[in-house]
Amino acid sequence: MQFCSKSLLNSLYLHWPFCPYKCHFCPFVAIASHDQFMPDYQKALKKEILDFAKNFNKESSIKSVFLGGGTPSTCPNNLLLDTFDILNSVFSFEKNAEISIEVNPGTVKPGQLEVWKLAGINRLSIGIQSLNDDVLKKLNRHQTSADVFALIENASKIFENISVDLIIGLPGVTEQEWKDLILKIGSWPIKHLSIYFLTVHEDTPLYFGVKKNKIILPPDNQIIELYYWSINKLKEFGFNQYEISNFAKQGYESTHNSAYWKRLPYKGFGLGACSFDGQSRFQNEKNLMTYMNNLNEGRETTIFAEKLEIHQIWLEKLMLGIRQIKGVEINELIQNLNEEKKIKFLNKINDLQKQNLISFDGDVLKLSHQGLALENQIVLELAIN
Ligand SMILES: C[S@@+](CC[C@H](N)C(=O)[O-])C[C@H]1O[C@@H](n2cnc3c(N)ncnc32)[C@H](O)[C@@H]1O
Ligand code: SF4
Repeated sequence: MQFCSKSLLNSLYLHWPFCPYKCHFCPFVAIASHDQFMPDYQKALKKEILDFAKNFNKESSIKSVFLGGGTPSTCPNNLLLDTFDILNSVFSFEKNAEISIEVNPGTVKPGQLEVWKLAGINRLSIGIQSLNDDVLKKLNRHQTSADVFALIENASKIFENISVDLIIGLPGVTEQEWKDLILKIGSWPIKHLSIYFLTVHEDTPLYFGVKKNKIILPPDNQIIELYYWSINKLKEFGFNQYEISNFAKQGYESTHNSAYWKRLPYKGFGLGACSFDGQSRFQNEKNLMTYMNNLNEGRETTIFAEKLEIHQIWLEKLMLGIRQIKGVEINELIQNLNEEKKIKFLNKINDLQKQNLISFDGDVLKLSHQGLALENQIVLELAIN
């Protein structure tokens, strides 16, 4: 199955898999100690873009590009500029398209921020996670709070739109340290932040540490309390929560994330990159050598392609809709359900409403304040087959 050449593309994702270290919590397609392959990888990435360009809807006007990873801030300047030249030669972009790059503190070399600006990047997404250097080091993330402060200061001289990522629930971060981090963020010149709940992914070193009781995670009630405390504090600082994990100053909600939540077509390039053409989902090869060889030798590099069935589309609309603070139209969810399922679904809604976990604003179904931290369980409850 091929990406539908008629679909109007909204967004592009480019994956840069190289990392300076492999964090013990990380489940992403990210590889350390392979920097010598960067030039060959970029060649393959370019080939993938050019191959795709032979057959796609040229009326597409791209509204967002996300250079993610891995650690794209490790991409050498010449390779980054060349990649953007190719993108510009192939795609048309909206005047105010959001062009983001993920940046790890401690990886940025002098002059690099200027080169990103020159390439057309207008938004940085900086991975802070925590300011406790010892906690990060134990999790094999070699970044210091001094790196973070220097990057925020330097980046804000060049970029107006900066976002930061934090992970809540990292083992060893005290309540006070978390609160201090949020208070500090209130004084930073940033426009957006994401707070992710730590997920212990199977087969990561973190998973084995927890399993062997070598790593003790903070209790759930403490994490939830800190999450709600952060929501309130961030509101005082002018950051509005617009999704379970995302907060923005007015007008700085991420175009790219919103495209995912609205289920708009996007094309992903690179190792393990995912794509969606409006009807089907795709994923690229995840092995570096196989990905590069496939492209060099003219072979297809998609390893997964699936046309979504009606019940999958329904589940996606529920999951992606309810995560957003603005909620999801109930009619969107019930219009294609048969009578039996509709009754079952509405009964579940009723139960959750009685427990104060969801609420209605007219026809719009939303998570209640209390429901925000329990989204996973609520979706499971509502996910009728
Ligand atoms: C693709 S990752 C990494 C981007 C960049 N390399 C970095 O580490 O800053 C994007 C974000 O996912 C989040 N993340 C990674 N592993 C996670 C985990 N196990 N649980 C929750 N969030 C995680 C981190 O906040 C990270 O910034
Ligand atoms: S630097 Fe980012 S992408 Fe790389 S291993 Fe760490 S969390 Fe994963």
